[in-house]
Amino acid sequence: MEKPAVQRIGVFTSGGDAPGMNAAIRSVVRTCLHMGIECIGIRRGYHGLINGDFMPLNFESVSGLSRRGGTMLYSARSEDFKAKQGQERAGATCKLLGLDALVGIGGDGTFRGLLCLAQQGLSVIGIPGTIDNDIACSTYTIGFDSACNTALECIDKLRDTMQSHERCSVVEVMGRHAGHVALNVGVACGATAVLVPEQPIDFEADVIEPIRRARLAGRTHFMIIVAEGVQGGAYEVAKRITEATAMDPRVTILGHVQRGGAPTARDRIAATYMGYEAVRLLAEGKRCRVVALQGDEYVNYDITEALNMKKGLDPQTYTVMRALTGVK
Ligand code: F6P
Repeated sequence: MEKPAVQRIGVFTSGGDAPGMNAAIRSVVRTCLHMGIECIGIRRGYHGLINGDFMPLNFESVSGLSRRGGTMLYSARSEDFKAKQGQERAGATCKLLGLDALVGIGGDGTFRGLLCLAQQGLSVIGIPGTIDNDIACSTYTIGFDSACNTALECIDKLRDTMQSHERCSVVEVMGRHAGHVALNVGVACGATAVLVPEQPIDFEADVIEPIRRARLAGRTHFMIIVAEGVQGGAYEVAKRITEATAMDPRVTILGHVQRGGAPTARDRIAATYMGYEAVRLLAEGKRCRVVALQGDEYVNYDITEALNMKKGLDPQTYTVMRALTGVK
């Protein structure tokens, strides 16, 4: 094997944590060891880079990590890093630690931060890690499948009690400004209606009509899935259902439970592949890339190119959801 282009890689997690981030950290460390590269863990994202919060990582440090939710390196959102001075302090930490490369696991904000450090001479690779699946260059982000399964498990439980009391349930799921979680969970749970921020909402056609149709078919409980980015969220949707139907819907905000739990096989595998790809690219001398999944293929893009891409909802999933909820 040729001598790798980098000798010491720093790895960190940033932004909202996601199940599978630990599997990605483990893969980065183990691939580094395989390629004869040292690996240093930076704790608390860019906040830790600025403050020199680090820990050496070896084979044993990451044993058994794949099955654990959360991130062993903690995560944080850093206001200081937004300022030039913070970015320079972070660069100085990298120099002090003798890092010639960084792997950042997180979302678009993480990748924008990596660009600042690339401008200081570091080789950087981003790995898409967020439950929102809203990173445009990749059809998949680490944590998405686990979050959808957690939400689905909660909604299946909710359906039992809604059925017993013949009620309407309005469930708000995460996703920040995107509706990927809501759309996929809505299809998976057989929702009566699904509302996402990417599409304009015709409340009568998109919510009341599907409820009415289900009721006329004999259904006496209803499941409405709302992405948190929809204006007014679940409480506003419940209010409008009451106004239109005199029902008294029960609102459930799933919240941060979607961010926890053991990662699914899909997330562990995606994280492990992406961690390996990140180190492989650095060893080959690549400097400023984002690892991504396109369909079944692992690819990589220049960070600036990746950040300029756009991604909407998957059109096929959206069409199926509209068909099965009977929305024209
Ligand atoms: O980006 C992941 C995410 O869970 C979003 O879905 C959600 O809106 C946000 O993070 C919550 O942020 P925080 O954990 O800082 O409250």
